[in-house]
Amino acid sequence: MLLLHLSDVDEANWAEQFRTALAPYRVVRRGDDFDPAAVRYIFVWKPKPDAFEGLTGLRAVLSLGAGVDALLRHEALPDAPIVRFVDADLSQRMSDYVVAHVTMHHRLYTRFQADQKARRWSQLYPPAASETTVGIMGMGVLGQDAVRRLLPLGFALRSWSRTPKSIEGVEGFAGDGTFDDFLAGTDILVNLLPLTPQTTGILGSATFGKLRRDRLAGGPVIINAARGGHQREADIVAALADGTLGAASLDVFETEPLPADSPLWAIENCYITPHIAAISNETSGVRYFGEIIRRHEAGDALINVVDRQRGY
Ligand code: NDP
Ligand code: OXD
Repeated sequence: MLLLHLSDVDEANWAEQFRTALAPYRVVRRGDDFDPAAVRYIFVWKPKPDAFEGLTGLRAVLSLGAGVDALLRHEALPDAPIVRFVDADLSQRMSDYVVAHVTMHHRLYTRFQADQKARRWSQLYPPAASETTVGIMGMGVLGQDAVRRLLPLGFALRSWSRTPKSIEGVEGFAGDGTFDDFLAGTDILVNLLPLTPQTTGILGSATFGKLRRDRLAGGPVIINAARGGHQREADIVAALADGTLGAASLDVFETEPLPADSPLWAIENCYITPHIAAISNETSGVRYFGEIIRRHEAGDALINVVDRQRGY
């Protein structure tokens, strides 16, 4: 039996699609009449504190999200394997966001927006894409898709990950000891890291001050599409005000929804979206997790299992 426990998304629709895809496999929701001990898989997003109560026969926890930081902090998380969402559609959507914001900042959107408002005709040529380095933190599923789509646009690319990566056309940096060198040549910093104790607060003053300053007029730029816990918003506000950063694109926040009194809302060179960079699509999600359940029930191993020790 598959139990759905989803908050902030249309659980009824997901259930309907799972029922169609998995029939005659039983698919239930929280309010239905079922024996918790018979639940073999639970599909979760923002699970409530009692989400796992009585699930003594659980074989796997399936995460609607690609990021599992909040799930790993759940106080009653059972000891079953966790499978996270890995999907071409999700990767494409994230890369859409990354490419849009990288190209916007590369072409000095903030500067020309200000000129337009002031009715000022002032010719300033952005550097060529090949003279602009995009540094991507996190070279996993999403980071690798993003570089694959940025490469044909001609940007110089560099990556930073925990373990070394060898990707044609991308200068790889790995481990904490290389972080400063990675930053020193980066004009546009893109964050696609998982949120772990090691990466919490990584987008703060110390990092901003090490980015390359002489390439993009206005200053280096950060783009955070991973988690709000990565960023120190007070540091971002200060860095955007004093020119340490030329601009920031933020899709995620320390507190979500972003409180109405956050100073970020009113900053002209801060581009805010409400955690919509990439969504787990129902059709591809049901296809992906449906296949995982079918194969696991047939005796195959689970794929894309979270390493709890690493935290992602
Ligand atoms: P992956 O697990 O595939 O990749 C994570 C990458 O980060 C890996 O390259 C890993 O290194 C690297 N990494 C982890 N810890 C460190 C560290 N301490 N130092 C350096 N590098 C590190 O994750 P995904 O690409 O699938 O997703 C990334 C994140 O994107 C998710 O965790 C989620 O928070 C976020 N996300 C946001 C969405 C949104 O709408 N805003 C939507 C979907 C995801 P290594 O390769 O060596 O292991
Ligand atoms: C995710 C997200 O982790 O939507 O998938 O943030």
